[in-house]
Amino acid sequence: MKKITIAIDGHSSCGKSTMAKDLAREIGYIYIDSGAMYRACTLFCMQHNLVLADGSIDTKTLEPLMPQIHVSFQLNPETGRPETYLNGINVERDIRTMEVSSHVSPVAAIPFVRKAMTQQQQQMGIEGGIVMDGRDIGTAVFPHAEMKVFVTASDEVRAQRRYDELVAKGEPADFDAVLQNLRERDHIDSTRAVAPLRQAEDALVLDNSHLTIEEQKQWLIEQFHRLTD
Ligand code: DC
Repeated sequence: MKKITIAIDGHSSCGKSTMAKDLAREIGYIYIDSGAMYRACTLFCMQHNLVLADGSIDTKTLEPLMPQIHVSFQLNPETGRPETYLNGINVERDIRTMEVSSHVSPVAAIPFVRKAMTQQQQQMGIEGGIVMDGRDIGTAVFPHAEMKVFVTASDEVRAQRRYDELVAKGEPADFDAVLQNLRERDHIDSTRAVAPLRQAEDALVLDNSHLTIEEQKQWLIEQFHRLTD
């Protein structure tokens, strides 16, 4: 059976990656977390002192350094989950901090950063059989994806999930700061000039505010079979 391309987009912290990972594992597809790629670029900016005092990015210095940014994914054999590598170094933990979260949207809004990441993502999906999640996968990266899903949930539910995730990892967390960061990111992601977050016209919409992880997983698998059987 031909393997299709599955694009899962939506707001920050709405459980997209959990759904996408579960689906990919269930159907034997490759999972790619495109947000992790923007987070790795952000970490690179932080490591090279390219985040200026006002939070903006030193794009003049960053642009010629772009060919030096290589983001890849490798399966952790213990967890069976893919982890993010920046230039061969495992950065999975480093890219999930609040500091990276607070700088990632301005980095992801830079047109040359998007161009480079979009090209890498299209290359990764060239043979289909991929589940990719992000903000612009169904609209810009794979506009012809056979299956598109747009996921959302209320701000408070999403902030609570993100907060719980940080606490579980032992990271410093403050609910109000998490909520504010999430709203700021939604705003920047939805209003940027290049490939803003928006629902593709042909996307299936899922508001998972009141669904359990298991329920949303079942919903997604049902949609997959409805499209492919
Ligand atoms: O999904 P996430 O929270 O890890 O994504 C981090 C940031 O990257 C998010 O604020 C928006 C940006 N992003 C993007 O612009 N385009 C994507 N395809 C994925 C993420």
